[in-house]
Amino acid sequence: MSAFPKTNALMQRGCEFLGSETAILCGAMSWVSERNLVAAISNAGGFGVIACGAMTPELLDAEIAGTKALTDKPFGVNLITMHPDLFDLIAVCAKHQVGHVVLAGGLPPKGSMDAIKQTGAKVIVFAPTLALAKKQFRSGADALVIEGMEAGGHIGPVATSVLAQEFLPELAAEHLVFVAGGIGRGDMIAGYLEMGAVGVQLGTRFACATESIAHPDFKKAFFRAKARDAEASVQVDPRLPVIPVRALKNKGTEEFTAKQREVAAKLDRGEVEMEAAQLEIERFWAGALKRAAIDGDVESGSMMAGQSVGMVTKEEPVADIIAQLMSECEDALTRR
Ligand SMILES: Cc1cc2nc3c(=O)[nH]c(=O)nc-3n(C[C@H](O)[C@H](O)[C@H](O)COP(=O)(O)O)c2cc1C
Repeated sequence: MSAFPKTNALMQRGCEFLGSETAILCGAMSWVSERNLVAAISNAGGFGVIACGAMTPELLDAEIAGTKALTDKPFGVNLITMHPDLFDLIAVCAKHQVGHVVLAGGLPPKGSMDAIKQTGAKVIVFAPTLALAKKQFRSGADALVIEGMEAGGHIGPVATSVLAQEFLPELAAEHLVFVAGGIGRGDMIAGYLEMGAVGVQLGTRFACATESIAHPDFKKAFFRAKARDAEASVQVDPRLPVIPVRALKNKGTEEFTAKQREVAAKLDRGEVEMEAAQLEIERFWAGALKRAAIDGDVESGSMMAGQSVGMVTKEEPVADIIAQLMSECEDALTRR
């Protein structure tokens, strides 16, 4: 990537941290970020991340081994903090000497960050507020991803542009911060790098790459969709703190509303505790995403996609996407 001197200079800290040629992460996408896409991203100079999602420790073990068979470049593993076997999953990462573990889905439970660091791996976290970001750095987090509500999948309420203005001036000099959500072109990457980010994370742009195992019908729906088709889910009951999900609108969106009503009614009747209710909602998403992304049920499955989906127009090899992003970023920096 020596053709991109300005971009490389701004990405240098990010590249050193990740051990990759570019500081472009492909964010973990449940079912989609498996060995083929992850290895392709890392082989193309990006940084792939396996989505553990609801996998058992045995499945994660096989997925990491499978990825290692396809690449000798570094890659990470994304673990969901509410997974009941979180510490066993950390042990699987340790067994394979995974260099980077991303903790997603909530604040890391007590001891989890230390357990990861003891394996020698770096810990990458998310944080909804600046105060929680600082707290996590104090607790030993090595890097932070700030992710805005333009992103695909589970989202917070604040736009990437606002998060970048809040977090980067405070954190970027001392800490490693990556920006995610709504990035479709290199011009945007240039902007965040200039603000102090050491790299970026994209999901939607990579979901339909040639190497992605996503179903052809899932990919076709992405190519047709525009930014406005990627809608955030609506919270039906204020007591049930459902994390919104951004996905292409379809029948599955309505089924999710019905699912929330069903779970809220169970809460009313005292049949489930709040934590179990939330877990039921998360299981619903995992199943619905599999139906869409793997089985190709684009009608009632969950078509998780970010607003940058309008910039995804055709199937392209990962290497071409990364080269295009780097070249657009370099052009933008050169025009300054
Ligand atoms: C289909 C899909 C599935 C996702 N699944 C996960 C996941 O399992 N864990 C996670 O931390 N993020 C997940 N994400 C978020 C991505 O890792 C990434 O942060 C996000 O896509 C970046 O924003 P963008 O979509 O605007 O590029 C998912 C995103 C998509 C589009």
